[in-house]
Amino acid sequence: MAADVAAERTALEARIAELIEAQGPIDVATFMTLALGHPSLGYYPAHARLGADGDFVTAPEVSQIFGELIGLALADAWRTMGGPPVRLVELGPGNGTLMADLLRATASVPGFGAALDIHLVETSPALRSRQAGRLAGLERVHWHADLGDVPGDRPLLLVANEFFDALPIRQFIKEEAGWREIEVAVDGRGRLCLTRAAGPTPAALRLGRAPVGSVVELSPAREALMEDLAHRLGAQGGLALVIDYGEAEPTPGSTLQAVHRHQKVDPLTRPGEVDLSSRVDFGALARIARTGGLAVFGPVPQGAFLERLGAALRLAQLVRGASADRSAGLEEGYRRLTAAAGMGTLFQALAVTSWPLLPPGFAAEEMVS
Ligand SMILES: C[S@@+](CC[C@H](N)C(=O)[O-])C[C@H]1O[C@@H](n2cnc3c(N)ncnc32)[C@H](O)[C@@H]1O
Repeated sequence: MAADVAAERTALEARIAELIEAQGPIDVATFMTLALGHPSLGYYPAHARLGADGDFVTAPEVSQIFGELIGLALADAWRTMGGPPVRLVELGPGNGTLMADLLRATASVPGFGAALDIHLVETSPALRSRQAGRLAGLERVHWHADLGDVPGDRPLLLVANEFFDALPIRQFIKEEAGWREIEVAVDGRGRLCLTRAAGPTPAALRLGRAPVGSVVELSPAREALMEDLAHRLGAQGGLALVIDYGEAEPTPGSTLQAVHRHQKVDPLTRPGEVDLSSRVDFGALARIARTGGLAVFGPVPQGAFLERLGAALRLAQLVRGASADRSAGLEEGYRRLTAAAGMGTLFQALAVTSWPLLPPGFAAEEMVS
């Protein structure tokens, strides 16, 4: 291997290259799992930086309005459910900002705080300690590595913002002779590169008909999570809100993207130091939840969802009496969350519920049949 390549590789890139040299190319899902989740060198455990001075900004980091409105929506659903004791669950809480804003905004809802037991599903020890700092002083906060570890005895109120997009995907390309899986290999210079599996993709994956050259993404990890969630909601009752970037139909082509300091970069370079994500196929998640017997609403664009929850009203409350600088910041955050030029249509919200309840922020005709 050239000396310049050896010097440029991250420690994780070298480990992944060794693995591939020992056992052959790996699928994209294995690459993503290592790049994001390797216990000591992966992006989330070792390098995750969320926020304006980090790699990328999520909705709760854009404006407090986001977490506040999610909190009030969940509290509203809880009241409709009759106000039972509930497990409040967040998948992948990042800096803990959404949960902190949610709890502050709902502190005045009578009985809500006392009904909650808080469960954060987070694998990164570094982010767990950031979340603990953010939620310091709160009782009844529990961390888990997996949704399966959250006790299954009470109704759930669950939120997952930009969580599904971080779960691994597999990619397939249509050739004349059929589908081939796209894999990660090592090129002649020792760098990671994309290749195609030596053998055809098993017919059991049923990728369907498509023109030669089409790329299709599947995410067994996302589907397994939605199956688990639907099963739990069916057994325990409750409401889940999933907000992410993606569409009701799968986006054609590769949607795997890497971001470093707010710039898109090559997903194969500097693994462990860059964030990886891909667009969420909400239609696939909705079908799984429907098959599990749940009521599903959406997806609806984030902007419309937040406006229905009262984003403009909340903005007006916040700017009242605020300094000119703070008002400008609040208005800018509100626009970024809701406008089409920001996150308003790129991001979508999906609700899954066992209750015969209309989830706040959704219209009856948005129920998936
Ligand atoms: C893109 S960040 C989103 C953070 C937060 N929800 C927000 O909106 O700011 C993804 C979060 O999910 C966590 N995460 C990623 N994969 C995970 C997994 N398989 N299990 C549990 N947590 C995971 C990350 O550590 C991080 O907290």
